[in-house]
Amino acid sequence: MAALLAARGLQTSDQWIVERTGIRARHFADDGVNSSDLALHASLAALQAAGRVAQDIDLIIVATSTPDMIFPSTACILQHKLGIAGCAAFDVQAVCSGFVYALAVADAMIKTGSARCALVVGSEVFSRILDFNDRTTCVLFGDGAGAVVLEASNEPGILATDLHADGRHVGILCTPGTVAGGQVLGDPLLKMDGQAVFKLAVQVLDSAARAVLEKAGRSTDDVDWLIPHQANIRIMQSTAKKLKLPLDKLIATLDEHGNTSAASVPLALDVAVRSGRVKRGDTVMLEGVGGGFTWGAVLLDF
Ligand code: UT7
Repeated sequence: MAALLAARGLQTSDQWIVERTGIRARHFADDGVNSSDLALHASLAALQAAGRVAQDIDLIIVATSTPDMIFPSTACILQHKLGIAGCAAFDVQAVCSGFVYALAVADAMIKTGSARCALVVGSEVFSRILDFNDRTTCVLFGDGAGAVVLEASNEPGILATDLHADGRHVGILCTPGTVAGGQVLGDPLLKMDGQAVFKLAVQVLDSAARAVLEKAGRSTDDVDWLIPHQANIRIMQSTAKKLKLPLDKLIATLDEHGNTSAASVPLALDVAVRSGRVKRGDTVMLEGVGGGFTWGAVLLDF
């Protein structure tokens, strides 16, 4: 990775990236491939794994900060690409907490009877908003998508959810530009105060984990797998240690994907399920944290 960036004149090294983050590889979508295309791929795989077809879906939520268009939502574009029409479809914008937010919203809609079979997707093309002159951010992020199908059932499923935001920290992780009058106003590339984000992330991932366990009436001993947002292996390991979870219960896939923002948790879940680690009946803790500042946790029996 570093060699390609060095060719662009950036002072970095594979050793720095691996030691400071745990990231060894990442993927960038080809030109013309958008979040909805990655979302379609992940959705078809999720539908197949769930033994469902697109026509069974009555709710689509896409978590993304890199939508295809300002509007309509990537969820509507995905719906059309799935060849269905009529069901509710919308995007959730909570940056790297997006998938956890989307899952909590889908869970609430199912539990209140507004939906029966939801497709919940995290999909991002962060390569499009990276500043390749900023070595503190451009080495971290990648593109990807992951999806789950969530259905009404008498058995959990999702045991508890816990979501938070603190807008006082808008500036520590943002893409501040916007479009107005036919022009890009402000800087449309990602900005991050890495150390500020790091410190907050370690703090809130611990508090959200404890809060969701308390809501569910469970303890850390009940957790079979911790799947946190895949931003930095040091943050992830510190979260596991604070919770006194052995590191072999931590699912880490950022070495192969980098930080894929809202896609990171469902991508890691997918890898963990398909590799046979997460099995039916296991108790899984999902955690998101990112721009906003946003954070949250979902505890579920798989
Ligand atoms: O997805 C949303 C959530 N995001 C996160 O959770 C990210 C949280 N933050 C982090 O993961 C870490 O803060 C980073 C990986 C972004 C940075 O790691 P760090 O250990 O906090 O490094 P640092 O910012 O303290 O920088 C240490 C040194 C600096 O050099 P000096 O001032 O010590 O000479 C940086 O300029 O590392 C330098 N540096 C680099 N060197 C080589 C920063 N980026 C690079 C780079 N290659 N890519």
